[in-house]
Amino acid sequence: MNEFLTVAIEAATQAGAALRTEFERPKKISYKGEVDLVTESDKHSESIIVSKLRERFPDHAIVAEEGSRGAAAAAKYCWHVDPLDGTTNFAHSYPCFAVSIGLLEAGEPLAGVVLNPIANELFTAAHGEGAYLNGNRIQVSSVEKLATSLVATGFPTHQRANNRNIYYYWEFTMRSHGVRRDGSAALDLCSVACGRFEGFWEFGLNSWDTAAGMLIVQEAGGRITSLDGAPYQPGARSILASNARVHDEMRDVAASIAGGAARSLP
Ligand code: 2AM
Ligand code: CA
Repeated sequence: MNEFLTVAIEAATQAGAALRTEFERPKKISYKGEVDLVTESDKHSESIIVSKLRERFPDHAIVAEEGSRGAAAAAKYCWHVDPLDGTTNFAHSYPCFAVSIGLLEAGEPLAGVVLNPIANELFTAAHGEGAYLNGNRIQVSSVEKLATSLVATGFPTHQRANNRNIYYYWEFTMRSHGVRRDGSAALDLCSVACGRFEGFWEFGLNSWDTAAGMLIVQEAGGRITSLDGAPYQPGARSILASNARVHDEMRDVAASIAGGAARSLP
């Protein structure tokens, strides 16, 4: 296993242990905006991860949800860290959240770790070396059609009135086995990677939400693009991740909605 992945796993494990302990306690919540909440645990988890990465890789840049360090654009290596993906779930004591740590080299994913500390599920991937769940190799599902797929999406916590995703939600619900909306994009991507979901799409995610999960999906044999089929870069406006087999069908459904052809709407 390469050193980057080893250190990322150590950082995620330490941060996940802190989150698991704090999950049992009353939460101290503050607000970044009107409804965009952040807990003391987001900040604590981030400080654990960032100090570990800085200690081991002082030359690397870090882009983290609660604050970045180093000039990301200038650095060869840049870590994208979400110390607590699924903050709203955490704050409401809904046990669905993760630590997500991804490393990009000149913009390309090199290593990724996503840890669900409640379920004790550690997803890992290194470029060209496959994707793993708790040390066991994982693969995307072999389902061929959207009609027999379980898919997932998510909604932002603020400016929901400007988010068109409810139309996509409607249309994909009509055309699939169902759409799940669990509130952690990093875990949604991992669920695609290990075959629980055939596909996942969302708008407006940040690089720290997807940098690790993107590589985990790709290394599990899945495909990632923007929702219009263009190449995906972490932080792009939209994401479509799938088991590869249903990718074009999902992209075509999305295109028909973007083109105003959401005919099932009242
Ligand atoms: P977070 O919990 O780290 O904020 C919900 O499906 C997903 O969207 C979660 O991964 C969540 O990450 C993220 N998210 C929540 N609010 C968001 C926002 N305003 N913009 C972009 N992503 C957001
Ligand atoms: Ca977060």
